[in-house]
Amino acid sequence: MTPIRTLVDRDQDKLKPSLPPGLRDLYDGDLHFRESPAERPFVFANFVSTLDGVVSYAIKGQATGSAISGSDTADRFIMGLLRASADAIMVGARTVHETGPQSLWTAESIYPDAKQLYAEYRINVLHKPPRPLLVVVSGSGKLELERAIFRVPEARTVVMTTPAGKDALTAAGAAKLPSVQIHTPDSSSGTIDPLAMLRLLHAQYGIQSLLHEGGPSLFGEFMAAQAVDELFLTLSPQIAGRTSDAMRPALIEGTEFMPECAPWFQLLSVKQSADHLYLRYQRTASLPKPVSAC
Ligand SMILES: NC(=O)c1ccc[n+]([C@@H]2O[C@H](COP(=O)([O-])OP(=O)(O)OC[C@H]3O[C@@H](n4cnc5c(N)ncnc54)[C@H](OP(=O)(O)O)[C@@H]3O)[C@@H](O)[C@H]2O)c1
Repeated sequence: MTPIRTLVDRDQDKLKPSLPPGLRDLYDGDLHFRESPAERPFVFANFVSTLDGVVSYAIKGQATGSAISGSDTADRFIMGLLRASADAIMVGARTVHETGPQSLWTAESIYPDAKQLYAEYRINVLHKPPRPLLVVVSGSGKLELERAIFRVPEARTVVMTTPAGKDALTAAGAAKLPSVQIHTPDSSSGTIDPLAMLRLLHAQYGIQSLLHEGGPSLFGEFMAAQAVDELFLTLSPQIAGRTSDAMRPALIEGTEFMPECAPWFQLLSVKQSADHLYLRYQRTASLPKPVSAC
């Protein structure tokens, strides 16, 4: 991995080391997260974007973040570090469909070279179970149950769905898969309420920290619900471009904000490895107006 260099670091809690020395060296600094807000986990997201804001080429076989980052190893290392830090990881159904069937959303699968360091940090420092809970969100329940996340015994997978989605999953045999749990939080508005998902994860699984790995549709809903506390954004030095007929999603799709209601962020850190930048932002306290009032 080309070394990571820290350009800006506004981590408030510098006196209390968190990362073990090996990870601190690779990350060129320490990593602290705030406590979770009342009744929901602390939510931090991780995305990689081109310079022109595209997060997916939306081309079959080349739709994932690796085409955007150029499989950048420092981006993969940071993604692994964030996974190792989280109690749970959340992904939307389309992001799952676009990812290889063997993917398990673990720290070591994205950056195997740091497997031991991640495990030492997660188990000895954070005192968390070996793997984060994986939370898949699908209203329709149309998920490929042959995927490793539903079959590997050590995987812990929760599906958040609607009552109709639960029926579809049950008909497809999901209830017989021992490591899969299905939940139907409030979806009275047609889609599942982000805060209802977070409250359920907090109350039933004790989740204090959740890594949101997208995609842009699901992430937009969380942003509108003011349920995103931090954003780790890798800026990849390429331009994807977009036309009006072939949609290439940006960081958020399907949700829009008026200027007077748009969420703003404070910069927490800037890191660099070769020509990539790794930005960390914290959401400012709350939106100036509720989204519904705009
Ligand atoms: N560059 C990056 O960092 C990055 C990160 C993540 C993803 N991506 C890319 O982004 C693309 C996918 O993003 P996307 O925005 O199209 O899809 P997405 O957000 O991953 O998934 C959308 C699907 O999630 C379910 N869903 C979302 N919100 C829901 C809610 N409130 N209630 C119930 N179900 C809900 C629905 O599933 P059903 O249709 O089953 O109902 C919906 O169709 C992929 O190409 C992926 O590789 C890139």
